[in-house]
Amino acid sequence: MTPNNDFRTRCVHEGELHDSQHQGSISPLYMGTSYAFNDVPINQYPRYFNTPNQRGLSQKIASLEGAEAGLIFGSGMAAISTALFSHLQAGDHVVFQDDLYGGTRNFIKTEFPKYQISFSFAKDTTVASFEAAIRPNTQGIYIETPSNPTLRIIDLKGIAALAQAHQIWTMIDNTFASPVNQNPIAFGIDVVLHSATKYLGGHSDICAGAVVGSQKTIDRVFSSAKNFGGSLSDATVWLLERSMKTLYLRVQAQNENALQMAHFLDQQSWVERVYYPGLSLHPDHVLAKAQMKGFGGMLSFDLEKGRDAKTFLLALKLIKPTMSLAGIESTALSPRLTSHALLTEEERLAQGITPQLIRFSLGIEAMEDLQADLLQAVEKTNQ
Ligand SMILES: Cc1ncc(COP(=O)(O)O)c(C=O)c1O
Repeated sequence: MTPNNDFRTRCVHEGELHDSQHQGSISPLYMGTSYAFNDVPINQYPRYFNTPNQRGLSQKIASLEGAEAGLIFGSGMAAISTALFSHLQAGDHVVFQDDLYGGTRNFIKTEFPKYQISFSFAKDTTVASFEAAIRPNTQGIYIETPSNPTLRIIDLKGIAALAQAHQIWTMIDNTFASPVNQNPIAFGIDVVLHSATKYLGGHSDICAGAVVGSQKTIDRVFSSAKNFGGSLSDATVWLLERSMKTLYLRVQAQNENALQMAHFLDQQSWVERVYYPGLSLHPDHVLAKAQMKGFGGMLSFDLEKGRDAKTFLLALKLIKPTMSLAGIESTALSPRLTSHALLTEEERLAQGITPQLIRFSLGIEAMEDLQADLLQAVEKTNQ
């Protein structure tokens, strides 16, 4: 496999292991925790992130992001926490985007103070607001774009240029976009993180994470990762590699469903507002078009005032009112009651999270069935 192979071909074949014993067409699974010394620099061992299956999958994800190297973790949070801690020490400061994934926000708020690491949130999603938050001891900038749940877009090139001017690193959580829709390394971002539990896995049955970047960056992350021990079991690595063969097809179908659904919702009298970067009225539509290859499978919308979000969600029959996202099955939730429940009401409203807001993860079902489900559910919210 070479980088010249098309993205779709690399989804299927990059990093695959050859079955030299039986010539089977898929990667064999090596569950061993003990291997003979050979030509790999460090002895092969699951916690060293270098078993045959772990190395194969790392290569696949790195290739799809246009990175030199990568590491696979036991969860998205293991990837995020290890990447951050490997780049920080006491006295350092990091600038984060304000509308951050709740788990990451909770991680930095509870763990950073224990190690004398400080942080601030940029006031909004503009590059200028990240610049305003930089201090003399700032080591890096951490972003998520599209953001959760209002799908704001951050200028990747602008953030990379700002970081280079200040000689600091940049990290992005690219979970919402997936490598199909956005490759931040091409825009100068240093470290790309994924909750592979989401689009990379795609079937709501795998918990995993990934970090990709230059070989130098990955060596640095590895030096902490082997101490923290957040590696992924080979059985799950194998399943994730299998799942990623269909990544391109799944995400394309989800992109198409989300765009169609956004237009549909935009025309409904019971919907107050739709948040989707593929809509021309989205405040960041032009930027999204410039840096994304597709607008993604996530959207949010506000029900009109007076319609209860919980009643609506519980009335859905096909779309599952669950916490997960990015699976081939459509799911929806109220950020106020679930993903952002730990924030204060004031913090939520500052991020546009109203009691009526519904976050919608589009699956690959038929559009007419999804629309019919929404229409029958909204009937139940009539007073
Ligand atoms: C954007 C984003 N980043 C990171 C995570 C954390 O990933 P995990 O649950 O795999 O640890 C999630 C989980 O929902 C997420 O949505």
